[in-house]
Amino acid sequence: MEILSASEQDIERAAKALAAGALVAFPTETVYGLGADAFSLSALARVFEAKNRPRFDPLIIHIAEHGALSRIADTSSLDDAAMQRLSLLSQRLWPGPLTLVLPKRPELPDLATAGLATAAVRLPSHPAAQKLIRLSTGAVAAPSANLFGCLSPTRAEHVMAQLGAKIDFVIDGGKTPVGVESTVLDLSRDTPSILRPGGTSREAIEALIGPVELSTALPADSHGTQGSPSAPRSPGQLKSHYSPHTPLVLCRRGELIARGEYPNRPPNAAQSEGRLYFSPPGNGELTPSDRVLSATGDTLEAAANLFDMLHELDSLGLELIRAEEAPETGLGLAINDRLRRAAD
Ligand code: TXA
Ligand code: MG
Repeated sequence: MEILSASEQDIERAAKALAAGALVAFPTETVYGLGADAFSLSALARVFEAKNRPRFDPLIIHIAEHGALSRIADTSSLDDAAMQRLSLLSQRLWPGPLTLVLPKRPELPDLATAGLATAAVRLPSHPAAQKLIRLSTGAVAAPSANLFGCLSPTRAEHVMAQLGAKIDFVIDGGKTPVGVESTVLDLSRDTPSILRPGGTSREAIEALIGPVELSTALPADSHGTQGSPSAPRSPGQLKSHYSPHTPLVLCRRGELIARGEYPNRPPNAAQSEGRLYFSPPGNGELTPSDRVLSATGDTLEAAANLFDMLHELDSLGLELIRAEEAPETGLGLAINDRLRRAAD
């Protein structure tokens, strides 16, 4: 694997390679993606292989222009209301951390969509991502650039550590600004439904198109228990996902208290634990293995730090990470979704 910068010249080189079948990891505003030509069967197969990703888990197709949507999605079966929603969302929230699930075009390989009749499409706002997509094939399939089930990468270093030997290039664009994956919104059914909460808040979507369902595999109040018994509509919404190597326990907001202070502490409790606070703890004192997601209790700032701080804590060789839930507003929905899956 070769590390490239986000310069025009390096991106041009990566784009040429991608168009010729290479796997290129690149920064987006959410997390790093592992890019492959969406229409190349061999490149798509290598993506699944590199990530150890099961073939039933479909990929998101990234485009750089609104006009490229028609290469991926066939909107002819959508009714007027659905077309209206698509138009509002794509005009107002693209480019950005929003993925739309739409009926797929038959030309898009089934391997990209895991055999589903729908395709997930996103127009990212990160300039390096846009350049890479535009200069390569205009349609880049890209899952998050991590091993299946592990923490998503918010820095090029995370990609190198997990996928280094298995991919061709990584474009190093520094830390990704949003820090959690895109919101996946299903527009292919009568009622729009959030399949994965992410970098675009439910509130921002509802302000444009009215109420949407939240249809994730775990109920909102779940604390590590199995969610709805029905199969997840988004195959990537597996119960255990986004996991650090260190065991993680989730606490309700405000109940994360310092080591040794919590009542009935079992004698065999972890000796070394780290804490991930949503906002600064009331009693103040932090140890070197504690992190605070947002000094001001802002869900946007907290989301931007989530995977980054989990990667840091995971590298400390701790026995346990105890994390505090975020409030269920704004990007708090996405933060809690990732923490619940990390805790399973
Ligand atoms: O922010 C992001 O979305 C990042 C960056 C790289 O763009 N990508 C990303 O991809 O998170 P990935 O593969 O890690 O997650 C894609 C999610 C999975 O949960 C997958 O099941 C779902 O999108 N998905 C993809 N196609 C779908 C479809 N046709 N119907 C339902 N869910 C789909
Ligand atoms: Mg992923």
